[in-house]
Order: sequence, then structure tokens, then C-alpha cells
Amino acid sequence: MKKKILITGGAGFIGSHVVRRFVSNYPDYEILNLDVLTYAGNLANLTDVEDLPNYRFVKADITDALAMNDLFEQENFDAVIHLAAESHVDRSIADPTAFVMTNVIGTVNLLNAARAHWKGDYDKKRFYHVSTDEVYGALGETGMFTETTAYDPHSPYSASKASSDHFVRAYHDTYGLDVVISNCSNNYGSHHFPEKLIPLAINNIKNNLPVPVYGKGENVRDWLWVEDHARAIDVIFHEAATGETYNIGGHNEWKNIDLIHLLCDIMDRKLNRTPGDSAKLISFVTDRAGHDLRYAIDSSKLQNKLNWVPSLQFEEGLEKTVEWYLENEEWLSNVTSGNYKAYYETQYQGR
Ligand code: NAD
Ligand code: DAU
Repeated sequence: MKKKILITGGAGFIGSHVVRRFVSNYPDYEILNLDVLTYAGNLANLTDVEDLPNYRFVKADITDALAMNDLFEQENFDAVIHLAAESHVDRSIADPTAFVMTNVIGTVNLLNAARAHWKGDYDKKRFYHVSTDEVYGALGETGMFTETTAYDPHSPYSASKASSDHFVRAYHDTYGLDVVISNCSNNYGSHHFPEKLIPLAINNIKNNLPVPVYGKGENVRDWLWVEDHARAIDVIFHEAATGETYNIGGHNEWKNIDLIHLLCDIMDRKLNRTPGDSAKLISFVTDRAGHDLRYAIDSSKLQNKLNWVPSLQFEEGLEKTVEWYLENEEWLSNVTSGNYKAYYETQYQGR
């Protein structure tokens, strides 16, 4: 069936995987990727699909309410898959305001545009909000986040995502908008911006630079292959009942320090280094303020109701990720040098 879908944040890490999946798997769908191209937005993430006939890009800011209304008026979307966000916890600690603007106000602008344009005729319309497990706060040594865990965000990032989740639910409860929300654990894979732990560590190990581990490296994250996240979004988008929430996770908990040691072993092998060489780069640094101890997602609702299961073991996925970064030196050097920002003006504009 034909559908016109707005995907926001499609030039980012997860968004680019979601765009690629939808554009490639659903030739009948018309996909409009909306992204303002912040430091995290990189159209070179999508070179393999940018010429496909069912794909278009628009550079726009979700904090601009008028622009969002105009776009909805012009395009007559059937659905929105909303990923655009400020996504990095450390940046939110340094400066929370951009997180409130994009994650809260930007989300409300999109909800208002959808509501105004769809005018209560929500049959076959859908607003899918992509969110994070960080809204649930931190776990101790045991337990897992379920869909009914109470919200308890700690960082400015997670507070802004929690707020946006509440607004999405409020538009469902108050106006009847067809919404679905998913809350996912830490993603890893290709095209991940090298400010986040795994790509930062790969880049630093490759360049013989210190690998910063916050505190004692005791914090635990639950890692999921980004393409498994994109597949979960696909399944939830198509099959979830209106108003539903799904947790997405890999059942794959790692202490940061153990993960970094595994990564160092893989890097030693791939770079033909003496075993143990890369681990010498590990550098324990001042802990993140308010650092959540442990995240772990119970995704049994998604597994049981919608038959989704993660496809990759972490060791295999991490090895594939390392290989991608080593094979895509140009992508990495363009990102670390800032050259990627020119891609839109020099090679993309006018398409
Ligand atoms: P990212 O930072 O890589 O990408 C975000 C994208 O949003 C960028 O392309 C950026 O240019 C765009 N953007 C930012 N502000 C915008 C604005 N005002 N208008 C239009 N576009 C804007 O983020 P990501 O890691 O791909 O995360 C995508 C979504 O998934 C976010 O909503 C995030 O909260 C959520 N999420 C991420 C993870 C993870 O592990 N990375 C896990 C769970 C949920
Ligand atoms: O849980 C989902 C969340 O995962 C997403 O909502 C966020 O958008 C995404 O950025 C990610 O947040 P984290 O803060 O968990 O990811 P990050 O890669 O920044 O950090 C992972 C862990 O590694 C965390 O415990 C902090 C630690 N860390 C991070 C960096 C950047 C380090 O020890 N050293 C570092 O240099």
C-alpha cells in the first residue's frame, strides 16, 4: 500500500538506518527525510540510497513551528517516524537548553502539525515517537526496565526525552492522535558519531590516543545492534496497536570496562598489534555527573507480541562494527575533521 512517511533525524546514526531500511524495503512508500543537519547530522550516511526514486531530503528545523505546519500542509503525510533529537548525555550536562528546544518543543511542534493537518481523521495515520530507556532512570545490581516502570530521568537529556514521551501520550489521550512509542537501549553499529563510547574508543585506539573510561568503568549498558533497532521500529510501526509502548533491548549487558577490553582485543587482532597493546590506552577519567549505574531492558512484550528478536550476538556485532570503521576511513576522517558538513552544500544541494 502506498504511504507518504516523514522520518525526522534521518541523517543521524539510527535515523539513517531507519531511512535506509524503509526506502529499500518499501518501494511503494515515499520517504521524506527531514533533518536540520546539526553536528550529528551527516548526509554521507545515506549515499547508498540518496538516488532512489522514493527518497527525498529536506533541510528543516523541528523547532520552527511554522515550517512544520507548512510542510504538513504541502506534503499530506500518512505517518511520522520521529527520531530527530539532541542525543548525547554529556552535551546535555554542558548545555541543557538545546535539548529542551529540540526534544521537547520540536516534538510538540510536530504533534501540533500532525493534529492540525490530520484534523481528527486519524484512521490510517500514525505518529511514531522513538525514545530511550534512559527515561526510566537507573537500576541497581538487579532488575530490568519494563513498559510499566515509572519514569525517573536523571540527566537533562533523559528529562527532555521523558517530557517528549509524556507529550506524545497526552496527544493520544487528549486528542485521540494515533501514537506509538518505543524506548530502546544503547545502540551500536556503523555511522555512529564518534563522541559516543564505542566509536570514540575505536577511533582513539586506531590513532593510539587515550581511551577515556568514566569513573571505574563499572556502569552497565545493554547494547543493541542498530539494524536490529531499525527492524524493531519497522515491526512496531506496522503492527503495534494505537497508544502502545514497546521496550527494545538486546538482553546484552556489559560493564563499560569489560566492553572496552573486548574492543581492545578485537582492535589488536584487526590492526595486527601485540595482544594487550590497545588496552594500554585505557585511561580512567573523572566520572560523568549523575552517571546512571545500570540500564537493562526487558523486551519480552516485543518478543512475545510482535515476534521480534535481536539477530546478532554482541561479539559478532562489535567485530562487524570495528571492520566498518576500519574500512570506512574516509567517513571517519571527514567526521573527525568536520569536512562532512560540506557534503550538503557541495554534493547534495539541488538534487
Ligand atoms: P543522532 O544524534 O545521531 O542523530 C540525531 C539527528 O537529529 C541528527 O541527524 C540531527 O541533525 C537531527 N536533529 C537534531 N536537532 C534537530 C532539529 N532541531 N531539527 C531537525 N533535525 C534535528 O541521534 P541517534 O543516536 O541517531 O538517536 C536518534 C533517536 O533515537 C533520538 O531520538 C534518541 O533519543 C533515540 N535513541 C537513541 C539511542 C542510541 O543509543 N543512540 C537509543 C535509544 C533511543
Ligand atoms: O540508553 C540509550 C541511550 O544510549 C541513548 O538514549 C542516548 O542517545 C545514547 O547516547 C546512549 O547514551 P549513553 O550515555 O549510555 O551513551 P554513551 O556512549 O555516551 O556512554 C556509554 C557509557 O560509556 C556510559 O556509561 C558513559 C560511558 N562513557 C562514555 C563516553 C563518551 C565513558 O566511559 N567514556 C566516554 O568517553
